[in-house]
Amino acid sequence: MKRIMVTGALGQIGSELIVKLREKYGSDSVLAVDYRVPDKDYAGLFELADVRDREALDRLVTKYKIDTIYHLAAILSAKGESNPQLAFETNILGLYNVLEVGLKHRIERIIVPSSIAVFGPDAPKENTPVEVALQPTTMYGITKVTGELLGNYYYHRFGLDVRGVRLPGIISSETLPGGGTTDYAVEMFYAAVKGEPYVCFVRADTVLPMMYMPDCIKALIQLAEADGSNLRYRCNYNVTAMSFSAGELADAIREFIPDFVCEFKPDHRQKIADAWPRSLDDSAAREDWGWQPDYDLKSMTKDMIDKLRKKLHPSK
Ligand SMILES: NC(=O)c1ccc[n+]([C@@H]2O[C@H](COP(=O)([O-])OP(=O)(O)OC[C@H]3O[C@@H](n4cnc5c(N)ncnc54)[C@H](O)[C@@H]3O)[C@@H](O)[C@H]2O)c1
Repeated sequence: MKRIMVTGALGQIGSELIVKLREKYGSDSVLAVDYRVPDKDYAGLFELADVRDREALDRLVTKYKIDTIYHLAAILSAKGESNPQLAFETNILGLYNVLEVGLKHRIERIIVPSSIAVFGPDAPKENTPVEVALQPTTMYGITKVTGELLGNYYYHRFGLDVRGVRLPGIISSETLPGGGTTDYAVEMFYAAVKGEPYVCFVRADTVLPMMYMPDCIKALIQLAEADGSNLRYRCNYNVTAMSFSAGELADAIREFIPDFVCEFKPDHRQKIADAWPRSLDDSAAREDWGWQPDYDLKSMTKDMIDKLRKKLHPSK
């Protein structure tokens, strides 16, 4: 029986990853961990712990005989720029704790998402390759580059099986995103389905790589289960599903909700978005472990609107 621990389990990705992992491996096999208290109706194994507290992680790994960790607890890009110290402590020291506890208990596998934030403004913007100079200018990006390097180091130096993907912006309907630069994409859907106008915080021509949540979950689990001998990279696989501008997303939503009104008033997050790639080369993930997304802009938009209509207007 697998014994999986997911840190940051109440976040945008964790809340949906947990459901899939429990479906796949059984409810008793998946422990959710976060430093926030869950809603009263939260179902399933849950423990409160701060990833900055190594002893707390150690106790949980011992208590539940954990063999696999999906380490999602992090401070994201926009929030990280407003509190860089917190981003450093959470993203770098938190990961260091997870790696050290993983090493001590000889855990089978650790999955750590990285991000397109590892790329700095000098990286090629189109079809950005895996291997390129990484010179991010945000604390979030710096913590993500460090995370990739640390994960690679623990694999090569100690044989700890650490793996990770550089995720693009993730769009989902279940849990609101936690302070990233691509949050506008999710907010736009919520506003449109509520029948409200939306003021987008990046320019209409801002193009970023994106992915729908079911593909994100698929990528994380598929990489976790891939044959390690096929992996050319460890913690820095590019993965992507689609690229579109904020204006194109508003147009795609208007195909389903024609009276949706969207204005574009860039704020401080425009600078972060401008430093990131417009599209990614994810051919290594496709070749090494069979990565292939299921959703494009049109199919994602339809599914998001269907799901949000049910969530926000259940009686209609
Ligand atoms: N969502 C995206 O668009 C996106 C894109 C690229 C990469 N990622 C990466 O995916 C991972 C998960 O992201 P997400 O979108 O689910 O983030 P999120 O902000 O929605 O969730 C993070 C969770 O971590 C928890 N957390 C924060 N600090 C903690 C601590 N010290 N101890 C324990 N828990 C703590 C929070 O309470 C929250 O529930 C992160 O590593 C992030 O960098 C996300």
